[in-house]
Amino acid sequence: MRIAVVGSGYVGLVAGACFADLGHDVILVDNDERKLAALNAGEVPIHENFLPELLQRHRGRKLTFSSDLQAAVRASAAVFVAVGTPPTEQGDADLSYVESVARDIAGAINGYKIIVEKSTVPVYTSEWVRKVILRNGAAAGSYDVASNPEFLREGTAVVDFLYPDRIVLGSDSERCTSLLREIYAPLIDGTYYQKPDAIPRPDGASIPAQVIATSTKSAELIKHASNAFLAMKISFINAVATVCESVGANVQQICQGIGADKRIGPRFLNPGIGYGGSCFPKDLMAFRAVAKECGYDFRLLDEVMRINEEQRQRFLRKVRSALWTLRGKRLAVLGLAFKGGTDDIRESPAMLLVQALLQEGCQIAAYDPAAMPRAQEVFHSQVDFASNAYEAARGADAVLVLTEWEEFATLDLTRLYNQLKYPIVIDGRNLYDPEVMGAHGFTYYSVGRAPVVPQAPEAGSQTAKVNRS
Ligand code: UDX
Ligand code: UDX
Repeated sequence: MRIAVVGSGYVGLVAGACFADLGHDVILVDNDERKLAALNAGEVPIHENFLPELLQRHRGRKLTFSSDLQAAVRASAAVFVAVGTPPTEQGDADLSYVESVARDIAGAINGYKIIVEKSTVPVYTSEWVRKVILRNGAAAGSYDVASNPEFLREGTAVVDFLYPDRIVLGSDSERCTSLLREIYAPLIDGTYYQKPDAIPRPDGASIPAQVIATSTKSAELIKHASNAFLAMKISFINAVATVCESVGANVQQICQGIGADKRIGPRFLNPGIGYGGSCFPKDLMAFRAVAKECGYDFRLLDEVMRINEEQRQRFLRKVRSALWTLRGKRLAVLGLAFKGGTDDIRESPAMLLVQALLQEGCQIAAYDPAAMPRAQEVFHSQVDFASNAYEAARGADAVLVLTEWEEFATLDLTRLYNQLKYPIVIDGRNLYDPEVMGAHGFTYYSVGRAPVVPQAPEAGSQTAKVNRS
């Protein structure tokens, strides 16, 4: 099928590349000429597993790039809208990009088409899109508006798209639903998974993909409710971690204990410094705002957001109580991305913490495996950027672990110890076993677990740490 995808951000680019891999002819539209030039030149603008392979495979063949929205719409049977929906100052979603794209689409409808919301949008957006297209001259009956939310996580976006837990098809017309089914047919009937060059199946993926057909409004709500529920799970465990800290319990044991209950499940129960990213913070505010507009005061979501903010503040207090005064202290920061496996720093709790520490007069040496170029654009020379974790740690008063990168979990602890001025690790992601840290001589603070403080040095000893080999 010929498909247009409008917006080549995280969602649009991944969706476009994956649709091409399913065998469709895709035109990816964006109004940012520089982005298009980069894509045409073979650049991969985001750090995403398997995306370079897919772009390489389909660029210029099944996947083309264009700034001409109307031509793309005329050429396509389905138009997916994946432009940004940033928060306004009041917290609701700014739908002006969606509206302007809908207006442009209206003038190009030349036969039955489906317009599919792929961006996360509040309930009722599809109704508005339908009205805007009608007001701008398209004939009723010449199009349908559907909602097909995307649940991909950054870092595993391609695999999430091709091996989804579910495909939600929200539509209010049979004709539209059957076109949507046709688009996803290779995932639904499983033929995609038999292709020799299919992107490899991740552990635990169930194939073929399950379809959940709903009304358009339900699909819009499924997306907001999913993200709100996941954020709630994270805030819940962060609140439990706080209780653990006050009573001397171990939150990891609690996670194991509650996560083993199949009704709860172990995923998204990792305590830390709070959730960030381009989705959860914005979507929670937007869901809160749309519920209010519809007459429901969703105060549970306020609490989820409050706990999330508090979690970062608690971490800062932990740093202060470990180091006493902060002005002039040199801190090694491991991780700037909002989570491991991505170069995205949008709403990253790590970035917000670095900002707060700079304001307190700390000197920061930071290392992140992927996000440093983006972080450099924010911090410039205010932060020293190191080429690896050990270099960041050299001569530091403490190490702060702010992003859950796998490579941090497997650091050589003896080497790390030897780099530091004081062997203090404040771990915002619970990457290490407290016993192991203690055995390596670290003073170790983590989230929801008792701190490890090695015994005071013998009287008369002047050294803060002994070098090991
Ligand atoms: C997306 C969704 O839009 C958002 O709702 C969801 O919650 C997360 O994913 P993302 O793909 O990260 O956001 O957005 P962004 O990286 O901002 O990309 C949007 C793209 O649309 C940009 O490349 C921008 O240039 C393009 N755009 C924007 C247009 O082509 N036309 C416009 O009118 C506006
Ligand atoms: C999220 C949703 O998971 C995805 O379905 C949706 O399409 C977009 O939003 P993403 O923003 O890529 O995906 O990241 P995710 O893996 O959900 O993590 C979000 C934040 O929560 C990160 O800051 C992460 O560090 C944090 N997190 C996640 C925790 O603190 N604990 C956890 O157990 C899981």
